[in-house]
Amino acid sequence: MNSFCHRNRQLADRAAEAPKWTAPYALNPATIAVDSGVLTGIVLKSLNGGAETVELPLTVSFLASGVARVTLDEKKRQLGQIELSNDRIRKERYNEAEKWTIVGGLDADTSIDSSAIFANDEITVVKYGPAKNFEAVITHSPFSLKFMRDGEEQIVLNDRGLFNMEHWRPRDSTPEEGVDQHGLFDESFSGKSDTKPRGPESVGLDISFIGYDHVFGIPEHASPLSLRETRGGGDGAYDEPYRLYNLDVFEYEFDSPMSLYGAIPFMQAHKKGGDVAVFWLNGAETWIDVVKKRTERTTTQTHWFSESGLLDVFVFLGPTAEENIKSYSQLTGTTALPQTFSIAYHQCRWNYLSQDDVAQVDAKFDEHDIPYDVIWLDVEHTDGKRYLTWDEANFPEPEKMLEALDKKQRKLVNIVDPHIKKDDNYHVYQGAKENDVIVKDNNGNNYEGWCWPGSSVWVDFFKPKAVEWWKSLMTYDAYKGSAKNLYVWNDMNEPAVFSGPEITMPKDNIHEGGWEHRDVHNINGMVFHNATALALMNRDGDKPLRPFILTRSFFAGTQRISASWTGDNLGNWDHLAVSIPMVLSNGIAGMTFTGADVGGFFGNPSPELLARWYQVGAFYPFFRAHAHIDTKRREPWLAGEPWTGYMKEAIRGRYRLLPTWYTAFRRASVDGMPVLRPMYLAFPDVEEGFGVDDQFFLGDSGILAKPVTKEGHDSVSVWLGDEQPYYDYSNYDVHQGKGQTTVYAPIDKTPMLIQGGNIFVRRDRPRRSSPAMKYDPFTLVVALDKDGNAKGRFYLDDGETFDYTKGGYIERTFTFDGKKATLRSDSLNDAAPGEFLKDMERVRVEKVIIVGANGQQLGQVHSVDVLQGGKKWETEVEYVKSGDGKVGVLTVRDPAVTITEDWTLQLRVGKIEL
Ligand code: GLC
Repeated sequence: MNSFCHRNRQLADRAAEAPKWTAPYALNPATIAVDSGVLTGIVLKSLNGGAETVELPLTVSFLASGVARVTLDEKKRQLGQIELSNDRIRKERYNEAEKWTIVGGLDADTSIDSSAIFANDEITVVKYGPAKNFEAVITHSPFSLKFMRDGEEQIVLNDRGLFNMEHWRPRDSTPEEGVDQHGLFDESFSGKSDTKPRGPESVGLDISFIGYDHVFGIPEHASPLSLRETRGGGDGAYDEPYRLYNLDVFEYEFDSPMSLYGAIPFMQAHKKGGDVAVFWLNGAETWIDVVKKRTERTTTQTHWFSESGLLDVFVFLGPTAEENIKSYSQLTGTTALPQTFSIAYHQCRWNYLSQDDVAQVDAKFDEHDIPYDVIWLDVEHTDGKRYLTWDEANFPEPEKMLEALDKKQRKLVNIVDPHIKKDDNYHVYQGAKENDVIVKDNNGNNYEGWCWPGSSVWVDFFKPKAVEWWKSLMTYDAYKGSAKNLYVWNDMNEPAVFSGPEITMPKDNIHEGGWEHRDVHNINGMVFHNATALALMNRDGDKPLRPFILTRSFFAGTQRISASWTGDNLGNWDHLAVSIPMVLSNGIAGMTFTGADVGGFFGNPSPELLARWYQVGAFYPFFRAHAHIDTKRREPWLAGEPWTGYMKEAIRGRYRLLPTWYTAFRRASVDGMPVLRPMYLAFPDVEEGFGVDDQFFLGDSGILAKPVTKEGHDSVSVWLGDEQPYYDYSNYDVHQGKGQTTVYAPIDKTPMLIQGGNIFVRRDRPRRSSPAMKYDPFTLVVALDKDGNAKGRFYLDDGETFDYTKGGYIERTFTFDGKKATLRSDSLNDAAPGEFLKDMERVRVEKVIIVGANGQQLGQVHSVDVLQGGKKWETEVEYVKSGDGKVGVLTVRDPAVTITEDWTLQLRVGKIEL
């Protein structure tokens, strides 16, 4: 732990130990003004018992969405009235995190002015929110902010008086009372020295979630979804805070608050009856302590501290988790709607060694009838780790390789890392030097470090010029051997620097605008993959396809641009298990397009582990097998039968459900709802489910999965959050009753249940890749609820272009009405039918499977009337019972309805009450 972390934790100790602790910060009431939804004022920090003060300008913005934003800065530094030991760097506190992160939602609620407030000498109260049922109660001295919803306290900032803005001071100033002076102006950390030309400048704040027992979010950590305590007792408490500092961690632990590759400082608090959240907008190293205070009701007390930057906190008052996620998505953007191929199966390894190797692996998939969409090339495909080049001995004709893949409608992804080999004959290095876009060291020279290619430099993608230049490197002309079906993997962008402190870049390196690396560290990976996305779009001129990039490092906002994965996991059962809460945590924090390396990066998984991992992987939003160069080859056919068959079935299962996955991604792209939904989102009022993080729903489909993650197990206990019938996905056996139920799961089966009340869509024909399914017919699965009703939603577009933004898509609801015994399909898209709809006219529904209701009733249905486009015809049905004989399963054969038009199926019976 470095010195700013110690200082903030020591402050927490001092405050807790003091008989009466008063934070030395007060808002001067005379300075408060409210105009057009924004409150401003000056908070005074008093030093040495009030002998001196530091002015901290405060802004509280009440946004039209109902979110409140609290910002504090340091006046002297805003005005540049300070002296630094290194005049190459900026004087202000870092204030550009917003520029890289926020894309909307900042409009203030202009109806709020001085008439909306109540104030006296001690407090100022502002009523706000769309229904004006939110209140911000600002206590002037000591300064604190309490947020209320419907008259009840929800969130308190500076509740425990731990607010701390380390103001600028000269090196020889009188030490602040009680503050450890070690490491204020320079520090040695893991054997490397860090000059601190601006001295101490951390910013800390305690945030209490009143009455909330569960907090979620702040990925990325290999730990449970519901965050653990990090100080004091608590079950399984950690002894260090959660850390957000993007790092390349070798063989990371599977149950730890340690930093990993990505950082999203968004935390949600959940309880029965309501949700709140905070977003701590800061790109510097950040730590978060979590403590639960258990009295009559539990309050979760958190303590946040970042090494530099503004205090910039967004406060969300829900009232639901869905609303908080939506508001957060308005601010930082939603997941970009991916190309369909990218949510299918990816085959990777470090490395496929040659063009022939690629051709052979590709052929093997076909030989074994295993679908796959993308093959990946790791660092060895390049000429000596010079990215954007090819190893000509092993990849002499990349165009031909790409063409062969394209014939099968498959893609290639090449790795492009951010370290640039220092070699005067390498065009990328030359360009970086000539354009002067290399990150500088603290003396203003090009920074050099060590990575895969040896001595390397790093491009400063905060520079607009760097982005323009990067775009020019990826045109089809410039990137020789590239083609339209080539996409990019940005790895090592934390950035990983083998020779650097903690395997990353020194904090006193200098970026665009004179900002130090410490200010932007967690944002750095995002600006890199953003530049790559722009470069991929640019290569196709005015008709770009949706870019696909995989990034290892991420920050709030990455979801708009890239998919990510959980990095270098281990091929063992613990890492398989923790991958589920990790993917869920990423998802609720906006970064839903994620997955873990199937099989585990390090080690050689047993066939059983590998088979189970494919079953889990088929439920990662990003589904890719990958392995370290030293591992044994493990493509699905190598294990042999029966294992290969299990892996094949898991992959095929994913392909069958691609339309449902795509529909879930569509929702994520509209309002940020994660593709995989943890139980607290699905059953917000059922407390037993809040800590459950090993099962999840797939979007709004009603499919509840709980993959097996333990060796030798052939059943799992699934938690049901309501009284609906749940039908086993494979044989429709019914499970009903809130609480635990046992689902049989031999090695060839992923435990999946369908919650009654839902309708989802499949495409059941096995194909070699997802584009080959384009005109395949659909199967609808209708799972009836206890009253005999069900509904569902379905979204489809061309899966590759941006035409959907101009109305080129199909979006439908399906409604099964038990009383009327009808199933209807209604369009939600009223745009004029364009090319896409014309193209899809030939696509039909080949099967409707209606599950549920007691056998007798469905058994009385002998035929079905089909109504579409003013015509009516009849079709046949087949009736069977579920495996356990408890429910009926009626299959409507070939209703011959198209997916582009509305239709109704009328079940024909003498009398039927479903
Ligand atoms: C990093 C990546 C890993 C990749 C390797 C070589 O360790 O996390 O996925 O295979 O680098 O490029």
